[in-house]
Amino acid sequence: MTAPDKRIMRVRDLGITFRTEDGDVRAVDGIDFDVDEGQILGLVGESGSGKSVCTRALIQLLPSTAKLDPDSRMELSTADGMVDIAKLHRRDKRLQSIRGGEIAMIFQEPMSSLAPTYRIGNPIMESAMLHRDITKKEARTIALDLLERVGISDPETRIDQYPFELSGGMRQRVMIAVALASQPRLLIADEPTTALDVTIQAQILDLLRELRDEFGMAIIFITHDLGVISQIADDVAVMYLGKIVETGTVREIITDPEHPYTSKLLEAIPRLDRLNERLTAIPGDIPSPLARPSGCPFHTRCDVAIAGRCEVDGPSPIEISPSHFVSCHLHDKESEASNV
Ligand SMILES: Nc1ncnc2c1ncn2[C@@H]1O[C@H](COP(=O)(O)OP(=O)(O)O)[C@@H](O)[C@H]1O
Ligand SMILES: [Mg+2]
Repeated sequence: MTAPDKRIMRVRDLGITFRTEDGDVRAVDGIDFDVDEGQILGLVGESGSGKSVCTRALIQLLPSTAKLDPDSRMELSTADGMVDIAKLHRRDKRLQSIRGGEIAMIFQEPMSSLAPTYRIGNPIMESAMLHRDITKKEARTIALDLLERVGISDPETRIDQYPFELSGGMRQRVMIAVALASQPRLLIADEPTTALDVTIQAQILDLLRELRDEFGMAIIFITHDLGVISQIADDVAVMYLGKIVETGTVREIITDPEHPYTSKLLEAIPRLDRLNERLTAIPGDIPSPLARPSGCPFHTRCDVAIAGRCEVDGPSPIEISPSHFVSCHLHDKESEASNV
């Protein structure tokens, strides 16, 4: 745990429901987490677990069909004190300066984020000028410097090229440069390496860690792959069906998983000698978000569920160590006693 003055973000009771024609989709079901300066927090879980929705909420980037629970809090520490992003109006000026400013975001497919007819230097310069009081000339110098820092050789030539002239890995480096241009305190990276091959992926992960060390920003790194998390994160939050089911340091999660779902995710990591194979899926289907299971959301796929308990009560977080929490009835004092 870090000192409170190092806290960048404090999220409490974050709940998000989509109104759809088929009914309500509970995408994020009341989650809590903190992000500290310089911390890389890995958010991991299968597709559909709510990772993207919960982080898009942090910059109010959700469609209007998404409803935030009224008691949700997303407190960001800013130069003017704490701001609860949940309380900001969509057109509030502070929101515009937070989005792409204090909080920057990179996504899976950099091609769709870069305008095809726009030279790659432009979005970097625009991001720098939007959030910092500088001239166009200064912005170009900053862009050249950032291109170099993210590992693009010959930035003087590259800065005037178009996205199609760059490889996928280079485009993702450009997107990282765009994100860094605003000097963010928090970078949200949503599956930024999923579309890249393994070697390039490893280079981007190294780069993000280096940039964290250099700039001291925090990173929320989202992936469905616990193998990737183990390479980049300091701390991990495991999500399943809109809930955080386990949190801990990366070592605690990898060597000492306490939630049956985390253990299954670990078993699904491809072996080192078969890195290019697809992940083995966890048996059983993820329930439809329109029909959430009662009690613990994982009980329908859990080998060790306790009958009469797990399908009835939703578990609360239980402390394993000061940095390690698990929401699972197998760790209830009561059930431990009855298992002896
Ligand atoms: N615009 C939307 N309308 C309705 N449901 C949505 C919308 N966007 C996401 N969802 C639902 O929210 C849940 C979480 O999605 P998401 O955060 O994208 O998952 P992840 O990023 O973990 O793969 C899913 O069940 C998904 O179907
Ligand atoms: Mg996603």
